[in-house]
Amino acid sequence: MQVLIFDDKKAVAENAATLLQKLILAKSNANIGLATGSTPIDLYKQLVSLYKNQQISFAQVNTFNLDEYYDIDENNSNSYRYFMNSQLFDHIDIDKNNTYLPTCNAKQDPRKQGEHFEQQIAALGGLDLQLLGIGGNGHIGFNEPSSSFASRTRIKSLTEQTVSDNSRMFSADEQQPKMAMTMGIATIMDAKYVLLIATGKNKAQAVNAMVNGPLSASCPASILQMHKNVIVMIDSDAASLLANKDYFTWVSQQNHTINEIYGQFPDL
Ligand code: F6R
Repeated sequence: MQVLIFDDKKAVAENAATLLQKLILAKSNANIGLATGSTPIDLYKQLVSLYKNQQISFAQVNTFNLDEYYDIDENNSNSYRYFMNSQLFDHIDIDKNNTYLPTCNAKQDPRKQGEHFEQQIAALGGLDLQLLGIGGNGHIGFNEPSSSFASRTRIKSLTEQTVSDNSRMFSADEQQPKMAMTMGIATIMDAKYVLLIATGKNKAQAVNAMVNGPLSASCPASILQMHKNVIVMIDSDAASLLANKDYFTWVSQQNHTINEIYGQFPDL
Protein backbone atom coordinates (compact mmCIF):
# COMPACT_ATOMS: atom_id res chain seq x y z
CA MET A 1 0.00 0.00 0.00
CA GLN A 2 1.46 3.34 -1.05
CA VAL A 3 0.21 6.11 1.22
CA LEU A 4 0.61 9.61 -0.21
CA ILE A 5 -0.13 12.45 2.19
CA PHE A 6 -0.95 15.90 0.82
CA ASP A 7 -1.48 19.26 2.53
CA ASP A 8 -5.12 19.66 1.56
CA LYS A 9 -8.01 18.20 -0.40
CA LYS A 10 -7.19 20.29 -3.47
CA ALA A 11 -3.80 18.58 -3.75
CA VAL A 12 -5.46 15.17 -3.31
CA ALA A 13 -7.84 15.93 -6.20
CA GLU A 14 -5.04 17.24 -8.44
CA ASN A 15 -2.77 14.27 -7.82
CA ALA A 16 -5.58 11.74 -8.21
CA ALA A 17 -6.53 13.39 -11.54
CA THR A 18 -2.91 13.23 -12.70
CA LEU A 19 -2.79 9.52 -11.88
CA LEU A 20 -5.99 8.83 -13.86
CA GLN A 21 -4.62 10.92 -16.73
CA LYS A 22 -1.45 8.77 -16.73
CA LEU A 23 -3.59 5.62 -16.72
CA ILE A 24 -5.61 6.77 -19.75
CA LEU A 25 -2.43 7.86 -21.55
CA ALA A 26 -1.00 4.39 -20.91
CA LYS A 27 -4.25 2.65 -21.98
CA SER A 28 -6.77 4.74 -23.91
CA ASN A 29 -9.53 2.11 -23.56
CA ALA A 30 -9.00 1.62 -19.82
CA ASN A 31 -11.81 0.17 -17.69
CA ILE A 32 -12.10 2.48 -14.72
CA GLY A 33 -14.21 1.88 -11.63
CA LEU A 34 -15.67 5.11 -10.27
CA ALA A 35 -17.13 6.27 -6.96
CA THR A 36 -19.72 8.84 -5.94
CA GLY A 37 -19.91 10.85 -2.70
CA SER A 38 -18.39 14.17 -1.66
CA THR A 39 -14.73 13.17 -1.87
CA PRO A 40 -14.38 12.61 -5.65
CA ILE A 41 -16.23 15.80 -6.67
CA ASP A 42 -13.03 17.89 -6.83
CA LEU A 43 -11.27 15.08 -8.68
CA TYR A 44 -14.05 15.00 -11.30
CA LYS A 45 -13.74 18.80 -11.68
CA GLN A 46 -10.03 18.34 -12.35
CA LEU A 47 -10.74 15.63 -14.96
CA VAL A 48 -13.26 17.91 -16.70
CA SER A 49 -10.69 20.68 -16.82
CA LEU A 50 -8.00 18.33 -18.18
CA TYR A 51 -10.48 17.30 -20.89
CA LYS A 52 -11.38 20.92 -21.72
CA ASN A 53 -7.66 21.71 -22.02
CA GLN A 54 -7.32 18.77 -24.43
CA GLN A 55 -4.96 16.94 -22.09
CA ILE A 56 -7.12 13.83 -21.80
CA SER A 57 -9.78 12.01 -23.81
CA PHE A 58 -12.36 9.57 -22.49
CA ALA A 59 -13.58 8.59 -25.97
CA GLN A 60 -12.56 4.95 -25.55
CA VAL A 61 -12.79 4.65 -21.77
CA ASN A 62 -15.31 2.35 -20.06
CA THR A 63 -16.47 3.14 -16.53
CA PHE A 64 -18.09 0.96 -13.89
CA ASN A 65 -19.54 2.62 -10.83
CA LEU A 66 -19.20 1.01 -7.44
CA ASP A 67 -22.81 1.27 -6.45
CA GLU A 68 -26.33 2.55 -7.05
CA TYR A 69 -29.38 2.81 -4.83
CA TYR A 70 -31.89 0.00 -5.20
CA ASP A 71 -34.97 0.84 -7.25
CA ILE A 72 -34.15 4.48 -7.92
CA ASP A 73 -35.02 6.24 -11.17
CA GLU A 74 -31.94 7.47 -13.03
CA ASN A 75 -33.55 10.91 -13.36
CA ASN A 76 -33.90 11.18 -9.59
CA SER A 77 -31.29 13.75 -8.56
CA ASN A 78 -30.16 11.41 -5.76
CA SER A 79 -29.40 8.52 -8.08
CA TYR A 80 -25.74 7.82 -8.67
CA ARG A 81 -26.40 7.84 -12.42
CA TYR A 82 -27.62 11.43 -12.08
CA PHE A 83 -24.56 12.27 -9.95
CA MET A 84 -22.13 10.80 -12.48
CA ASN A 85 -23.80 12.51 -15.44
CA SER A 86 -23.89 15.89 -13.77
CA GLN A 87 -20.45 15.75 -12.13
CA LEU A 88 -18.51 14.13 -14.96
CA PHE A 89 -20.08 12.37 -17.93
CA ASP A 90 -22.04 15.38 -19.27
CA HIS A 91 -18.81 17.42 -19.46
CA ILE A 92 -16.39 15.02 -21.15
CA ASP A 93 -16.23 13.06 -24.42
CA ILE A 94 -17.19 9.71 -22.92
CA ASP A 95 -19.76 7.56 -24.74
CA LYS A 96 -22.50 7.08 -22.13
CA ASN A 97 -23.11 3.59 -23.54
CA ASN A 98 -19.72 2.77 -22.05
CA THR A 99 -20.68 3.89 -18.54
CA TYR A 100 -22.08 1.13 -16.35
CA LEU A 101 -23.75 1.19 -12.93
CA PRO A 102 -25.04 -1.80 -10.93
CA THR A 103 -28.73 -1.01 -11.23
CA CYS A 104 -31.73 -2.98 -10.01
CA ASN A 105 -35.37 -1.97 -9.97
CA ALA A 106 -38.18 -3.57 -7.97
CA LYS A 107 -39.18 -5.80 -10.90
CA GLN A 108 -35.68 -7.24 -11.30
CA ASP A 109 -33.98 -10.04 -9.40
CA PRO A 110 -31.06 -8.42 -7.50
CA ARG A 111 -29.01 -11.64 -7.72
CA LYS A 112 -29.33 -11.78 -11.50
CA GLN A 113 -28.57 -8.07 -11.74
CA GLY A 114 -25.45 -8.53 -9.61
CA GLU A 115 -24.24 -11.38 -11.81
CA HIS A 116 -25.02 -9.35 -14.91
CA PHE A 117 -22.84 -6.48 -13.67
CA GLU A 118 -19.98 -8.88 -12.92
CA GLN A 119 -20.31 -10.27 -16.46
CA GLN A 120 -20.26 -6.77 -17.94
CA ILE A 121 -16.95 -6.09 -16.17
CA ALA A 122 -15.48 -9.46 -17.20
CA ALA A 123 -16.63 -9.08 -20.84
CA LEU A 124 -14.50 -5.95 -21.16
CA GLY A 125 -11.46 -7.61 -19.60
CA GLY A 126 -11.78 -6.58 -15.94
CA LEU A 127 -11.12 -3.34 -14.12
CA ASP A 128 -7.79 -1.63 -14.71
CA LEU A 129 -8.25 0.72 -11.78
CA GLN A 130 -10.92 1.12 -9.14
CA LEU A 131 -11.37 4.52 -7.50
CA LEU A 132 -12.63 4.35 -3.91
CA GLY A 133 -13.68 6.68 -1.13
CA ILE A 134 -13.95 5.35 2.41
CA GLY A 135 -16.86 5.55 4.83
CA GLY A 136 -16.40 6.79 8.39
CA ASN A 137 -17.00 3.15 9.40
CA GLY A 138 -14.40 1.81 6.96
CA HIS A 139 -16.85 0.77 4.25
CA ILE A 140 -15.80 0.65 0.60
CA GLY A 141 -18.57 0.83 -1.97
CA PHE A 142 -21.55 -0.09 0.15
CA ASN A 143 -19.68 -3.01 1.67
CA GLU A 144 -20.50 -2.21 5.25
CA PRO A 145 -18.66 -3.67 8.27
CA SER A 146 -19.14 -7.46 8.41
CA SER A 147 -19.34 -7.73 4.59
CA SER A 148 -17.63 -10.86 3.33
CA PHE A 149 -14.19 -10.34 1.83
CA ALA A 150 -15.34 -12.84 -0.85
CA SER A 151 -18.45 -10.83 -1.78
CA ARG A 152 -19.46 -10.01 -5.35
CA THR A 153 -21.88 -7.45 -6.73
CA ARG A 154 -25.11 -7.77 -4.76
CA ILE A 155 -27.86 -5.98 -2.90
CA LYS A 156 -26.99 -4.66 0.58
CA SER A 157 -28.89 -3.05 3.40
CA LEU A 158 -27.16 0.15 4.46
CA THR A 159 -26.14 0.70 8.08
CA GLU A 160 -27.87 3.38 10.11
CA GLN A 161 -24.63 5.38 10.05
CA THR A 162 -24.46 5.34 6.25
CA VAL A 163 -28.16 6.22 5.92
CA SER A 164 -27.60 9.09 8.34
CA ASP A 165 -24.34 10.22 6.60
CA ASN A 166 -26.19 10.32 3.25
CA SER A 167 -29.39 11.88 4.57
CA ARG A 168 -27.96 15.36 3.89
CA MET A 169 -28.57 14.68 0.19
CA PHE A 170 -32.30 14.00 0.58
CA SER A 171 -35.03 16.55 1.30
CA ALA A 172 -37.50 15.88 4.14
CA ASP A 173 -40.31 14.78 1.78
CA GLU A 174 -38.09 12.32 -0.13
CA GLN A 175 -38.00 8.62 0.62
CA GLN A 176 -34.33 7.78 1.26
CA PRO A 177 -33.39 4.31 -0.02
CA LYS A 178 -32.16 1.91 2.68
CA MET A 179 -30.76 -0.62 0.20
CA ALA A 180 -28.25 -0.41 -2.61
CA MET A 181 -26.53 -2.56 -5.19
CA THR A 182 -22.78 -2.58 -4.67
CA MET A 183 -19.71 -4.14 -6.19
CA GLY A 184 -18.43 -6.77 -3.80
CA ILE A 185 -15.13 -6.68 -1.95
CA ALA A 186 -13.78 -9.49 -4.17
CA THR A 187 -14.87 -7.51 -7.25
CA ILE A 188 -12.88 -4.51 -5.99
CA MET A 189 -9.89 -6.71 -5.15
CA ASP A 190 -9.85 -8.04 -8.74
CA ALA A 191 -9.04 -4.57 -10.10
CA LYS A 192 -5.43 -4.32 -11.25
CA TYR A 193 -4.97 -1.03 -9.39
CA VAL A 194 -6.90 0.62 -6.58
CA LEU A 195 -6.83 4.35 -5.87
CA LEU A 196 -8.45 5.30 -2.55
CA ILE A 197 -8.91 8.97 -1.73
CA ALA A 198 -9.92 10.38 1.66
CA THR A 199 -10.00 13.87 3.11
CA GLY A 200 -11.00 15.42 6.41
CA LYS A 201 -10.67 14.56 10.11
CA ASN A 202 -13.87 12.46 10.04
CA LYS A 203 -11.98 9.88 7.95
CA ALA A 204 -8.85 9.72 10.14
CA GLN A 205 -9.97 6.76 12.23
CA ALA A 206 -11.12 4.68 9.25
CA VAL A 207 -7.90 5.50 7.36
CA ASN A 208 -5.77 4.39 10.30
CA ALA A 209 -7.77 1.15 10.66
CA MET A 210 -7.39 0.50 6.92
CA VAL A 211 -3.64 1.16 6.81
CA ASN A 212 -2.50 -0.28 10.13
CA GLY A 213 -4.98 -3.13 10.50
CA PRO A 214 -5.90 -5.62 11.82
CA LEU A 215 -7.37 -7.22 8.71
CA SER A 216 -10.99 -7.47 9.73
CA ALA A 217 -14.48 -7.46 8.27
CA SER A 218 -15.25 -4.79 10.87
CA CYS A 219 -13.17 -2.45 8.67
CA PRO A 220 -13.87 -3.64 5.09
CA ALA A 221 -11.17 -1.31 3.68
CA SER A 222 -8.51 -3.21 5.68
CA ILE A 223 -8.64 -5.95 2.98
CA LEU A 224 -6.76 -3.52 0.74
CA GLN A 225 -3.62 -4.47 2.71
CA MET A 226 -3.79 -7.71 0.68
CA HIS A 227 -3.94 -5.96 -2.71
CA LYS A 228 -0.76 -5.71 -4.74
CA ASN A 229 -1.27 -2.22 -6.19
CA VAL A 230 -3.07 0.16 -3.84
CA ILE A 231 -2.42 3.88 -3.85
CA VAL A 232 -3.97 5.85 -0.99
CA MET A 233 -4.11 9.63 -1.43
CA ILE A 234 -5.15 11.53 1.69
CA ASP A 235 -4.92 15.02 3.12
CA SER A 236 -3.15 15.79 6.39
CA ASP A 237 -6.46 15.74 8.31
CA ALA A 238 -7.33 12.22 7.13
CA ALA A 239 -3.71 11.21 7.92
CA SER A 240 -3.79 12.73 11.40
CA LEU A 241 -4.04 9.42 13.29
CA LEU A 242 -1.35 7.60 11.29
CA ALA A 243 1.67 6.92 13.49
CA ASN A 244 4.04 6.25 10.58
CA LYS A 245 3.50 9.41 8.49
CA ASP A 246 7.22 10.19 8.05
CA TYR A 247 7.88 6.68 6.78
CA PHE A 248 5.11 6.98 4.17
CA THR A 249 6.48 10.32 2.99
CA TRP A 250 9.99 8.85 2.66
CA VAL A 251 8.72 5.80 0.75
CA SER A 252 6.61 7.90 -1.62
CA GLN A 253 9.69 9.96 -2.56
CA GLN A 254 11.57 6.78 -3.48
CA ASN A 255 8.57 5.35 -5.39
CA HIS A 256 8.20 8.59 -7.32
CA THR A 257 11.73 8.14 -8.69
CA ILE A 258 11.11 4.49 -9.62
CA ASN A 259 7.79 5.35 -11.31
CA GLU A 260 9.40 8.18 -13.29
CA ILE A 261 12.00 5.77 -14.67
CA TYR A 262 10.00 2.56 -15.10
CA GLY A 263 6.40 3.81 -15.49
CA GLN A 264 3.52 3.94 -13.04
CA PHE A 265 1.44 0.98 -14.27
CA PRO A 266 3.59 -2.12 -14.90
CA ASP A 267 0.62 -4.46 -14.38
CA LEU A 268 -1.76 -2.91 -16.93
C1 F6R B 1 -19.58 5.93 -3.17
C2 F6R B 1 -19.26 4.87 -2.22
C3 F6R B 1 -18.96 5.13 -0.80
C4 F6R B 1 -18.21 6.43 -0.55
C5 F6R B 1 -17.98 6.64 0.94
C6 F6R B 1 -17.35 7.99 1.21
O1 F6R B 1 -19.84 5.41 -4.46
O2 F6R B 1 -19.27 3.75 -2.62
O3 F6R B 1 -18.23 4.05 -0.27
O4 F6R B 1 -17.00 6.40 -1.23
O5 F6R B 1 -19.18 6.55 1.64
O6 F6R B 1 -18.26 8.99 0.88
P1 F6R B 1 -17.89 10.52 0.91
O7 F6R B 1 -16.89 10.74 -0.15
O8 F6R B 1 -19.19 11.24 0.64
O9 F6R B 1 -17.34 10.80 2.27
